[in-house]
Amino acid sequence: MKIMTGKTVVLGVTGGIAAYKAAEIASSLVHAGTIVKVIMTEAATRFIAPLTFQTLTRQPVVVDMFAAPDRWEVAHVSYAQAADLILIAPATANMIGKLALGLADDMLTATVMASHAPVLIAPAMNSNMYLNPAVQHNLDLLRQRGFHIIEPESGYLACGDVGPGRLAAPEQIVQAAQRLITANLDLSGWQVLVTAGPTREPLDPVRYLSNRSTGRMGYALAAVAARSGAKVTLISGPTALPTPAQVERVDVLTAQDMYMAVKERFSSATALVMAAAVADFRPKRYSTEKIKKKTGQPVLELESTVDILAALAEGKKPDQITIGFAAESSDLVAHAEEKLRRKRLDFIVANDITRYDAGFAADTNEVMILWPDGRREHLPLAYKEDIAAAIWQRAYQCRQDLLATVTK
Ligand code: CTP
Repeated sequence: MKIMTGKTVVLGVTGGIAAYKAAEIASSLVHAGTIVKVIMTEAATRFIAPLTFQTLTRQPVVVDMFAAPDRWEVAHVSYAQAADLILIAPATANMIGKLALGLADDMLTATVMASHAPVLIAPAMNSNMYLNPAVQHNLDLLRQRGFHIIEPESGYLACGDVGPGRLAAPEQIVQAAQRLITANLDLSGWQVLVTAGPTREPLDPVRYLSNRSTGRMGYALAAVAARSGAKVTLISGPTALPTPAQVERVDVLTAQDMYMAVKERFSSATALVMAAAVADFRPKRYSTEKIKKKTGQPVLELESTVDILAALAEGKKPDQITIGFAAESSDLVAHAEEKLRRKRLDFIVANDITRYDAGFAADTNEVMILWPDGRREHLPLAYKEDIAAAIWQRAYQCRQDLLATVTK
């Protein structure tokens, strides 16, 4: 998963038994395309060797603030400036106390002090220590100062006690880190159009053809874009979801309505993301009267709806981005590639709708992104908001590339 390509995470590892789990965190972050710079406290090196992190991250590991540098730079300042995020996992009671007090007597605390990057702390310790009022007070202080805390889990602890204090699951920590990093995504000045949900194609006053889309992926895309500063219009088929904050929502019913709503706004849009499951067919005839049983079994004749993305591809300006989704139940890549080309998309997000944990009605999704130049990228199972953030990051990069070629 290359969700965080090029971003730098300073990973602080402090001296607790959970320090070994930081190796998995470092590895997942590297796998996600992150540059990981590890700072260990002296005590952490008693639990896990710096060499482990050095190998996993392919970066030097810093422990001693006064060790002879291999090139001249003020190490804690350069780390502080390079960081898009400082993640401390595991964070001991001692480290939490030092941060709350504003001490800077080792490389990690000095780096935190010198940085403007968001800080995410994953405490791990014995439950009595964790529940100690001093630790809770220190955590509250840090929260008030804008530090992000990822609560430990309850369960069996290494010391034999049962209770809160076990380091949160590494994949949860990595996802929280991703959320914080992508929160830095700046889409200010962007006008985005997102479509979501199913469409309904009426047959008579009581019946319609539709599909299983719930709109969650599109709503997540709209929410993340709005949080990142974009002006967002969400063109939504019927869903049960609340409108995300700072999003203008336009409700539509049929594929034709959706087409009209998108077309009207497309020329001023920086990007269009079609996450809606648009009906491909509609009943050829609409009966203004409810179709009655006594007239016998009706034969439904269908006709094609307009392919919105394909129709808009014609008038697409060179600096506009269009992104499609491909919901497939077989031959995922081949079908997605065909749609990518036919609809002249900047990229397509393909998912396998036969899975219960991805696609329709799930909170999570696992997708493959396909690019016109043949690149493919797999984003493993993650919350739809995290997938949405990854999609916007790529849209942002796409636009930078387009602007560079347009102005050449
Ligand atoms: N789409 C669209 N207009 C339609 C149908 C789909 O703009 N009438 C968009 C979808 O929102 C999605 C992409 O096109 O972003 C692919 O949708 P999908 O239903 O997977 O593909 P289809 O074009 O309908 O092709 P097929 O019927 O072969 O699956």
